[in-house]
Amino acid sequence: MKTTNNKPIVLITAGPTREAIDPVRFISNHSSGKMGYAIAGAFLDKGFEVILVSGPVNISLSHTSLRVIPVNSADEMYTACQKYFPVAQITIFAAAVADYKPAQVYTQKMKKSAHEFSLQMVKNVDIAFEFGKIKRNDQVSVGFALETNDEEQNALKKLYSKNLDLIVLNSVKDEAATFGYDTNKITIINRDFQFQAFPLKSKAEVAVDIVTAAIKVGQKQEQA
Ligand code: PMT
Repeated sequence: MKTTNNKPIVLITAGPTREAIDPVRFISNHSSGKMGYAIAGAFLDKGFEVILVSGPVNISLSHTSLRVIPVNSADEMYTACQKYFPVAQITIFAAAVADYKPAQVYTQKMKKSAHEFSLQMVKNVDIAFEFGKIKRNDQVSVGFALETNDEEQNALKKLYSKNLDLIVLNSVKDEAATFGYDTNKITIINRDFQFQAFPLKSKAEVAVDIVTAAIKVGQKQEQA
């Protein structure tokens, strides 16, 4: 799948999502977007046309072959990706998408009262899972597994349930890895149960490892 300028297309999700409670409050997570943006940079270096669907982050990246689509919520991220997934040769799900959102978004700022209150949450769309259902044999999908425990087992579950080709396991237990850091420590797992563990590296270097692995899967598909 190529653009009119003959460049292959990669779709990347990055950053956190924000799930609104009322006009001034939301539920979110600690993702800075650094990992997803580093992956975008590595694909640009490889000559790809990059579509970066990004939650709210404090990073700016510009390039003639880059289109950044800013979104807030998981629903917005899913809608933005729907247009590009069919034309993407490779999709990387690096965003930390909220699994739940408030059942109701209040139109007015909620007022403090003397009582406790609880928020009812409903499931969000699982973007990687939904695209896993329609992925073609000529497309490569790479997901992340962000874990605190039973890392490999949970990562393998996500690899298969979301119909991914590769899963990048990172653990919040590793020092200076995952949220917000400029470094990360990953293991890339493929569908043949091959585990490629890397030492702690800068996110730019980690991105190159991920991009190299994803391109290799694509080349294998072409040969098959
Ligand atoms: O942004 P940084 O500060 O640089 O931090 C990087 C990171 C820790 C956010 C990144 O390396 C990472 O691990 N991203 C995925 C975080 C995550 O949501 O993992 P998960 O195990 O909950 O989700 C599994 C996969 O499904 C992920 O590819 C995720 O993008 C995707 N997903 C999850 C839920 C959902 N509703 N939709 C999804 O697409």
